[in-house]
Amino acid sequence: KNLTLTMIKPDAVKNGYMGNIINDITNAGFTIIALRLTQLTSQDAKKFYSIHKDKPFFKNLVEFMTSGPIVAAVLKKENAVEEFRKLIGATNPKNAEEGTLRKKYAESMERNAIHGSDSDENARIESLFHFAEKEIYLD
Ligand code: GTP
Ligand code: MG
Repeated sequence: KNLTLTMIKPDAVKNGYMGNIINDITNAGFTIIALRLTQLTSQDAKKFYSIHKDKPFFKNLVEFMTSGPIVAAVLKKENAVEEFRKLIGATNPKNAEEGTLRKKYAESMERNAIHGSDSDENARIESLFHFAEKEIYLD
């Protein structure tokens, strides 16, 4: 598959990095085929991150992800999931390589600026979580 779902997280939007991050994403060869600025409700965030519901950081993660607007987007590129996770870097920005988006824009393990789907199956589920099919531009 050639699609992935990203979210520019509340920290990065608040810090004014939305434009820079979109620019970095398109410069890296990804095409944006759906895009929206929105704010997650607590119910949305719990559903989106339900895989982490038993983790100690779950409550903080939901609070953080609902703390302000986010930008959700569907991105297209060959090998999109793997390529995009390379572009964003390690979950903890301290471990993220130079030039990755988390190295450039993230504040901490939790406030880590950007999300990327971790599998083709989740890319599809997450894209349909944020967008109706008719809102995703598939040529
Ligand atoms: P996402 O792209 O956001 O899914 O990040 P990821 O796939 O790199 O990490 P993962 O799915 O394991 O965790 C989801 C999110 O939970 C991370 O992006 C962090 O914001 C947060 N998180 C993960 N592990 C920790 C942790 O140990 N402590 C805290 N405070 N937050 C964590
Ligand atoms: Mg993840």
